[in-house]
Amino acid sequence: MTNTDRVVIRQPDDWHVHLRDGAMMQAVLPWTAAQFGRAIVMPNLVPPVTTVTLAEAYRDRILAALPEGSAFQPLMTCYLTDSTDPDEIERGFADRVWVAAKLYPAGATTNSHGGVTDLRRVAAVLERMERIGMPLLIHGEVTDPNVDIFDREAVFLDTVLTPLLAAHPGLKAVLEHVTTTEAVDFVRAHGPWLAATITPHHLMINRTSLFQGGLRPHLYCLPVAKREKHRLALRQAATSGEGCFFLGTDTAPHTASTKETACGCAGCFVGPTALQCYTQVFDEEGALDRLEAFASLNGPAFYGLPVNAGSVTLVRKAALTVDAVPVNGDRVVVFRGGEEMPWSIEA
Ligand code: DOR
Ligand code: ZN
Repeated sequence: MTNTDRVVIRQPDDWHVHLRDGAMMQAVLPWTAAQFGRAIVMPNLVPPVTTVTLAEAYRDRILAALPEGSAFQPLMTCYLTDSTDPDEIERGFADRVWVAAKLYPAGATTNSHGGVTDLRRVAAVLERMERIGMPLLIHGEVTDPNVDIFDREAVFLDTVLTPLLAAHPGLKAVLEHVTTTEAVDFVRAHGPWLAATITPHHLMINRTSLFQGGLRPHLYCLPVAKREKHRLALRQAATSGEGCFFLGTDTAPHTASTKETACGCAGCFVGPTALQCYTQVFDEEGALDRLEAFASLNGPAFYGLPVNAGSVTLVRKAALTVDAVPVNGDRVVVFRGGEEMPWSIEA
């Protein structure tokens, strides 16, 4: 094997996951815990994680559901609503219960109806977060039904994020799961306090993929995949080594019965194949030497956390991936599941 057939990187982290709860969490958590040292756990449960007490209880359920011997560390987040109390935000951050807060514009995505309806309502919360250095994690899409769904991220940058950052120049923020060339450029122009996560699927599919030979519900997520030129810009950003871009899978499990239906849920379940996907992309871009920065170094640097102690070895060895994960008599279909992928994780 040449050195480009084997890549050793620091243990990576996933800076954007949906672990859900109950039986679904039991089913999906081991896959994320097997690949990542830590993960930012999104708070869009039903009901959402809006208080310190709820976040502590959720964290304890995750820890209790971990496979025996796992050292995986969930990093909790607070779901912002119109009535979030700045004191509660600060208390959870000071007590190290949560590391960030998530802004879902109300109605933007799965379980976001309790999100923020008007940014003016959380101005005091954002001011407090700016003061204490607590990152704001942003679902960056406008919710106006009159805005074309493929334009909602770009319009958000102009109409929401630009004024938000101008009003809070010291606020640390992450534009989650970026999907456009506009977002990549925006993040580069607003460093170092602004960063972005990039998912495996947005690096691998474009909007045509959603209709390849027929409707592909398991490739539907939000923000929806865009044109090929955007995918190419994302690949360039992720593999650039720049500190403002890091790994966040947005693994978002939904059962097959809720995706293969007349009105299917948004979300790609990429937990079990995430590192295989990212490694393949970095290899295709001739950037395997920058995989570690994206996967294991840039995220901790942004969040002010130490890098993980262990390491992971990726090998160019084709392997069949798991096709689906069973849950409650149903199944969750894996992104690139049941396929032979060129890279695997060395045991
Ligand atoms: O596709 C998505 N699924 N995008 C989101 O923002 C939320 C997520 C989910 O929770 O299912
Ligand atoms: Zn998400």
